[in-house]
Amino acid sequence: MTERVQVESFGTVIGAEVKGVDFANPSAQDFAAVRSALDAHGVVVLRVPGMQPPQHVRLAEGLAPLQPLFYGQFTLPGTPALTIVSNIRENGQHIGLADAGMLWHTDGSYNRCPDFYSLLHGLEIPQQDGQPIGDTAFTSAVHAFQALPADMRARLTQLTCTHSFEFHIEKKRSKGQLKRPPLTAQQKADLPDVVQPVVRRHPNTGLPCLFVSEGHTSKINGLAQQESDELLEFLWAHLRQPRFQYRHKWRSGDLVIWDNIAVQHLAIFDYGDQPRRMHRIGTLGPVPVPWAEQLAQATT
Ligand SMILES: [Fe+2]
Repeated sequence: MTERVQVESFGTVIGAEVKGVDFANPSAQDFAAVRSALDAHGVVVLRVPGMQPPQHVRLAEGLAPLQPLFYGQFTLPGTPALTIVSNIRENGQHIGLADAGMLWHTDGSYNRCPDFYSLLHGLEIPQQDGQPIGDTAFTSAVHAFQALPADMRARLTQLTCTHSFEFHIEKKRSKGQLKRPPLTAQQKADLPDVVQPVVRRHPNTGLPCLFVSEGHTSKINGLAQQESDELLEFLWAHLRQPRFQYRHKWRSGDLVIWDNIAVQHLAIFDYGDQPRRMHRIGTLGPVPVPWAEQLAQATT
């Protein structure tokens, strides 16, 4: 790590501020320092006042290849890799995704190759009594897994689950949270359900990460529906415990980068119609490797 870059933990099990990154002209050492901080802390915050969309794209590309977008109607004109996340309407139309992150999730887990890092740039932050609202909460999939009883960890390691974008949209719709049109037949065909390991191996740290989410996991495969539902409800409640969390209070000009393999996240919708505007870029991760394969290799 370069001496110029400093990493300061927030004192929670995940989350740190990274200072000294030259976001306008990042070096290989800057990227290495950010990746290293992400491996150690799962979520990092950078202050990037005045950062422009091309610089945002460059930072993302320096960390990992970009994730191809499938839901492109809210991309920033001229910057197709960048999605606008906002509740703002212009001429009666939303200018960005207005319902992103209402359930705990990891980005793109319904893809064969889910997102690795997400980079969210806060531009317009709602406030109440002089304090920012519209926080983003993060929880550690690593610490949550480690805190489970040994017999449950062993059982989960042998299981697979289904991640489903259609399930996600239907769940939001049933809760009255959906602020986008229903999926078209083509979108459903483009995003079939995928089978994922319940516990995956982190490609950098080698640690086991719990990989079921309230937003996207429709079932544990091989279990009766009721047993699957009960196990998922238990795991989601376990993951939601404050002891595994960091909650980010946004300042305009924050860039929050998180590792979707190591942490889950949730957007807090507590700001009503106050305008909120963010820019998001996602990067492409590997095919998830079951933790069970790691264990098998270790014993052969
Ligand atoms: Fe998200």
